Amino acid sequence: MRGGIIEKIGAGIIRMNTTDFSRYLRSMVLGVETKIPLSNGQYVTAINFDNAATTPPLISVMNGIVNFAPWYSSIHRGKGFKSKLSSNTYEEGRQIIYDFVNADRSKDALIFTKNTTESINIAAYRLAQENNKGVILSTDMEHLANDLPWRDKFIVEYVGIDRAGKLSLEDLENKLLRHNGKVLLVTVTGASNVTGYINPIHEIAKMAHKYHSKILVDGAQLVPHVPVDMKPHGAPEHIDYLAFSAHKMYAPFGAGVLVGPRESFEKGEPVYKGGGDVRLVSQKFIQWADPPAKDEAGTPNIMGVNALIDAVRTLKMVGMDAIHHYENTLIHYAANKLKNIPGIDLYCYDKKEDERVALISFTLKGMPHPLLAEILSREGGIAVRDGMFCAHPYIEKMLGLSDVDLEYFRTNEEALIPGMVRISFGLYNNVSEINHLIKLLDNISKNIKSYLSLYKPLMF
Ligand code: ALA
Repeated sequence: MRGGIIEKIGAGIIRMNTTDFSRYLRSMVLGVETKIPLSNGQYVTAINFDNAATTPPLISVMNGIVNFAPWYSSIHRGKGFKSKLSSNTYEEGRQIIYDFVNADRSKDALIFTKNTTESINIAAYRLAQENNKGVILSTDMEHLANDLPWRDKFIVEYVGIDRAGKLSLEDLENKLLRHNGKVLLVTVTGASNVTGYINPIHEIAKMAHKYHSKILVDGAQLVPHVPVDMKPHGAPEHIDYLAFSAHKMYAPFGAGVLVGPRESFEKGEPVYKGGGDVRLVSQKFIQWADPPAKDEAGTPNIMGVNALIDAVRTLKMVGMDAIHHYENTLIHYAANKLKNIPGIDLYCYDKKEDERVALISFTLKGMPHPLLAEILSREGGIAVRDGMFCAHPYIEKMLGLSDVDLEYFRTNEEALIPGMVRISFGLYNNVSEINHLIKLLDNISKNIKSYLSLYKPLMF
């Protein structure tokens, strides 16, 4: 928009008036001005810094749901007008998502699922049908959805991290080399839900392909915040599989996405079996439908898909580059303030130039993580996540927990499992909210003892 709030001044270069842009983005999201009570009875505007877990809905998404509801009917199951309209909306939605991540309709199947977890479980189940007990390379920085589904079906090795918590591409190449073309898949997060690091997915793809492997990108934390391009089939940088969730991109109602080579879904059997994924069945045989229907048994979630489509339309209209740029200004602002609070350890803020999404995790010396999260909520109306964020091995490594430590925590049910506190921003957050957090954290850090004596008895 030349002369507007944001201005494209070249490929990927954006000039914007940040204050106006921030207001504009905030006006798009529902519930951002909701008042909630503090423990002193006072009401304040809720601050949500837990967007990596779930984002609030866009207003366009909620309007879309209400507008579509009168037309809502069964998908692929009727000749009624509304049924046909619902089915068309669903299939047009599929094309919008293909375009959003630059997947290739002629070569890729795009399956609507429940969320990233279900997408990766489906991918693991389907791959295991052909290649049971082959080698998969996952990494030390995965959240559990991109670790556990592989464990019982394959030999899983984990690509290590360096001292700053970043993925070691050297270790990846060594492992690919050692297995000499036998690695079935490199499965890697696009962006970490703990440190916010963005992995160089296209560089990793090149490496995987060089050693005749494929790549799956867990896009749960990437797709909502950064432009993602799967690149053409045959290009060394091509992303073979991509998984992501709608509920982390301002679209509740339970939709997720799995994209992958059509041929890999043509073979084998689906995880879920039932109506909608077959062409013909007798009591003697099952003839499966073609992808993607084959992996979408049961009545499809048109409301969830509709929500996702509306979210994608809105995000595209704003521009993913602009969103990434804006959210980056927030995280750098926050990290630089956090660094100066006594007792705060950041995981990780290595270099400003590091590619990252807008989240960061930290600990405060002397303050247990659940207590800190509770205090932020009760005293500041600030929502954060604490604990291990479903990324236990990564956090264990970042905190330096040994096997002996882990055995202690495993066998002592009363022990408080270590963890961190995480702030994660969405496009609607702003600097003034960050200032509230910093002020409160600074106060807590300077009065640890009094906060402990006030809140510890309530919690432990
Ligand atoms: N949903 C999980 C998170 O909060 C993985 O990061």
